[in-house]
Amino acid sequence: MAHTPGSKQVENDIRNTYQWLEDRLPILSFINNSVGSNFMAPRNLNYMWNFGSLAGIALVLQILTGIFLAMHYKPDVAMAFDSIQHIMRDVNWGWLIRNMHMVGASFFFIVVYIHMARGLYYGSYKSPREVLWGIGVIIFLLMMATGFLGYVLPWGQMSYWGATVITNLLSVIPFIGQDIVVWLWGGYSVGDPTLNRFFVLHFVLPFVIVGIVILHIWALHEHGSNNPKGVDLKTKGDYIPFHPYYTIKDVFGLGVYLIPFTFMVFYAPEYLGHTDNNIPADPLVTPAHIVPEWYFLPFYAILRAIPIKELGVLAMFGAIAILLVLPWLDKHPVRSARFRPLYRPLYVLFLMNFVLLGWCGMMPPEGIYVLIAQAATAFYFGFFALLPILSKFEKAKPVPTSI
Ligand code: HEM
Repeated sequence: MAHTPGSKQVENDIRNTYQWLEDRLPILSFINNSVGSNFMAPRNLNYMWNFGSLAGIALVLQILTGIFLAMHYKPDVAMAFDSIQHIMRDVNWGWLIRNMHMVGASFFFIVVYIHMARGLYYGSYKSPREVLWGIGVIIFLLMMATGFLGYVLPWGQMSYWGATVITNLLSVIPFIGQDIVVWLWGGYSVGDPTLNRFFVLHFVLPFVIVGIVILHIWALHEHGSNNPKGVDLKTKGDYIPFHPYYTIKDVFGLGVYLIPFTFMVFYAPEYLGHTDNNIPADPLVTPAHIVPEWYFLPFYAILRAIPIKELGVLAMFGAIAILLVLPWLDKHPVRSARFRPLYRPLYVLFLMNFVLLGWCGMMPPEGIYVLIAQAATAFYFGFFALLPILSKFEKAKPVPTSI
């Protein structure tokens, strides 16, 4: 009787074990304070606030599927392509793990792009969350590096030529550019040493991202989440406990996310990739169009829009770097775009322009496509240039005093 489940004795045993662990390593209270019932969050968060936790889940899924892929993959130019075929055909469930990793990479970017667009709309980058935003931009850069390195590993035609084009960009660095490229390749062209080191870096970087995500969450907890109205919280009634309210909402969001994700994994795993990557890498045959993965396309379009290569490279990296100074460009006192009659339409145009840039990145760099890409590049940077002016002159709608 004494130890039946639910009895006083069992309850005491659990409490004592909990206390024993707390005295030695307070990890359970740490979790409860971070994502449990002790962590208080604004009560008016909408579904746009689901994407941070979704990004975390997508990251973990990439790491797990990646570890299993690495058990069968061979980072050797003579074997890499065949080892992928081996994973797809011979390894038990290998096709599923690879499809999840491939589709998962694209979905991870979709989630993070929405997460960033949310921050841009609700002014989450503004004081006091500048560092939180900046850490996010660094995560985004590392994600791009990881995605690029991973795409080289299957050693298909796009892997090889994508790696050649992108690494060559560094040759524009004055004086030492060419030496840097040779150093990066480990030889005089993309080859076996390149593949080997790209594999090592592709394996390591996600763990670096995990470390930086921890800093991201730490910074988030310092001031708590922003909210759709963008106003500071005042009373205790403005908050609800993260658990169970947002844990259940995040689980629901995950369920919704898994519907298109599993559909793509099972029915259209190659849809977001390029068919040429099913042809083994051939240094003697250049593909008609070298296109990166879709998530790089807007930045690729900026690179190609500018006829001077050095300036193109600068503009491409500048397009991401400018996000780092965003909190100092937009000093308007109102956070949420809901109350900013000028910023709001400008934001919508910015998103549409970003999609247009992506489309330009897909098209051959000639004729009208170059002109459109140039106009879209000008608008991309124009948006950021307008923000300091809006900060001074835009008259906001009446902002509610509380959420
Ligand atoms: C691996 C990628 C990322 C993970 C796992 C991640 C995770 C999270 C989580 C869990 C939250 C809290 C929940 C939420 O507000 O949605 C959050 C908030 C936030 N993240 Fe990220 N994030 C990532 C990338 C980024 C990037 C690339 C940026 C921006 C460049 C960014 C900017 C922000 C901002 C500004 C907030 C605060 C939002 C608010 O309170 O309104 N994050 N992130």
